[in-house]
Amino acid sequence: MFEWLKKQYAKSTLRKCFRAAELYQTYKTGEKTIYIYPRVHSVQFKTDKTIYTFTLQNGMNPKDVLKKEYVFQQIFGKQIEIDGDVKNFTFTVYHDSLDREVMYDYQALYDVIAKMKLPIIAGKDKNGQWRVYDMTKHPHLLIAGETGSGKSTQLRSILTTLIQYKKPHELELYLADCKKSEFHIFKQIEHVKCVLSSSKDIRKMLQHIKQELDERSNLTDKFGVAHIDDLPDSHKKPYIIVCIDEFVMLRNDSKIMDILIEIVAIGRTLGVFTILSMQRPTSDVLDTTIRANLTVRMGFKVADATNAKVINTIGADKLDTAGRFILRISKQEELQAPYLDIDKAKKILEPYMITKEAKEVKEVKNKTKQTSNTPTFLEPIQEKIEWFGVDEDERS
Ligand SMILES: Nc1ncnc2c1ncn2[C@@H]1O[C@H](COP(=O)(O)OP(=O)(O)OP(=O)(O)O)[C@@H](O)[C@H]1O
Ligand SMILES: [Mg+2]
Repeated sequence: MFEWLKKQYAKSTLRKCFRAAELYQTYKTGEKTIYIYPRVHSVQFKTDKTIYTFTLQNGMNPKDVLKKEYVFQQIFGKQIEIDGDVKNFTFTVYHDSLDREVMYDYQALYDVIAKMKLPIIAGKDKNGQWRVYDMTKHPHLLIAGETGSGKSTQLRSILTTLIQYKKPHELELYLADCKKSEFHIFKQIEHVKCVLSSSKDIRKMLQHIKQELDERSNLTDKFGVAHIDDLPDSHKKPYIIVCIDEFVMLRNDSKIMDILIEIVAIGRTLGVFTILSMQRPTSDVLDTTIRANLTVRMGFKVADATNAKVINTIGADKLDTAGRFILRISKQEELQAPYLDIDKAKKILEPYMITKEAKEVKEVKNKTKQTSNTPTFLEPIQEKIEWFGVDEDERS
């Protein structure tokens, strides 16, 4: 009897939610308006969750259910999941909260990423499962959140994972950090082509990437393949990731923004990907092409609901734990990012640093190519840029 009452109560709460979300059909009998809601078939109570199933009335638009996910969150809490197709839906309300701290653990992660080409670690879900995705399938990532929310820490975990997982000839990293505070620990890593902070250097680097896009595009044409992964072994190309922390500081540089737009628009099949982070996602800062192509969002705590809406991570303004974020790929899910502090990252990265001997050999090679300025090995991109002579401003 108690179980029956509990179910009736749960069903009536779900109908209230349908009402608030305007998921109903109406007809009139005399003065009275009759509301017809989706049909709730079952409610199952489990220790960690409650699962509802419901069916839409014919004529109801299934997209409206997902559009109104926030209403379900307002009534049932943020930890929910809605799954469905044309008519039949499963709605799950999780009771367990996420861990407040998840430690970074590459070994534990390895099984989950083992088959991926370019794994991006996101975090742990409410069931304690690691959530990761493959960047070759979801190419460009936007990380947003106000100061102290955990963006740079997340970038550190993502990059440290990639460095351990891919060989330097399989992956090249171009890092830019407008605040000059985050990426210095990656400077000596073999995969890392540059760590830049001035907008002038970043512009040069992006011009170099643009040239790389053109070359790759010519190669795929020449060999008649749709994707750089299909190039013959003799012409294999590494994946490239351009990662810019606090990219908003560059928004007034139209050249930089133009190239970024080009990369996000055509990079995927050419193996060139981007990760951008910013504190305040507003629609005037995020160009529509960039927004349309940065299909993966990690919304850490943002200032307000408008910011959360711009990046489509509804509820990100209500998050209250460092490292807590909403991952949006096709649907949204709240996760806890792993915590990897700088000292631990440095230790993990040690074996991937270029050796003193290799550094010396490379420096000798560089010297033979040098023209006027002597680039240091730590800023090899400047050396490359000189070879290509891509700085149009300085040419004129
Ligand atoms: N995943 C996490 N788990 C636990 N604590 C975290 C996590 N991420 C960040 N923190 C805590 O929050 C602090 C700030 O994190 P972080 O520097 O990544 O923020 P940020 O978003 O990059 O801030 P800013 O915009 O000022 O650069 C960290 O020093 C750490 O104490
Ligand atoms: Mg930061």
